[in-house]
Amino acid sequence: MSIRLGDEAPDFTQESTEGAINFHEWLGDSWGILFSHPADFTPVCTTELGTVASLKPEFERRNVKPIALSVDPVDKHEGWAADIAETQGTAPNFPLIADADRKVSELYDMIHPEADATMTVRSVFIIDPAKKVRLMLTYPAATGRNFDELLRVIDSLQLTEYQKVATPANWKQGDDVVILPTVSDEDADKLFPAGYETLKPYLRMTSQPKT
Ligand code: BEZ
Repeated sequence: MSIRLGDEAPDFTQESTEGAINFHEWLGDSWGILFSHPADFTPVCTTELGTVASLKPEFERRNVKPIALSVDPVDKHEGWAADIAETQGTAPNFPLIADADRKVSELYDMIHPEADATMTVRSVFIIDPAKKVRLMLTYPAATGRNFDELLRVIDSLQLTEYQKVATPANWKQGDDVVILPTVSDEDADKLFPAGYETLKPYLRMTSQPKT
């Protein structure tokens, strides 16, 4: 069955570079980002894993644990980690799932046979502390992902979780936000005492509230 936004992230136990991981236990009370790679010792994936490793402080600041996956065994992952350290300046500082039996790839529908019969595509799942899937995206093998964009989405998810706002196109931390259309003007006056601008009755802009 396909996974949809709001579903519970399927749980699994699988080998990784940090030993056997039970996904839900490993997540604990954190947010998580699970992302797949077509294969070990491939160039784009090497840059992606180095990038995520270098963003560790950004993920930690947001209480997000990254975890990567490819369908190769642990010993191969370990050899690749040395190459990542050498070429990207940072070894992976998060687990790499060794999904040699494709258990997790199949559970999360990460193999798209018309794209490639055996390798996983570049899937991303952002999971909240209640284990709900909050974002899914799928990139082709030849296109590396933009992890700054994923941090931006996490910022939006964490803001809109607690405030009655949504984030407009190309929003980034600190930019103005929109007031949810379900909030009446009367309630908006109370919730946003600094004020807001009504461009249309359904489009009201306000400064980013503190979380
Ligand atoms: C890569 O990670 O570099 C890659 C993997 C599969 C196809 C193309 C590129």
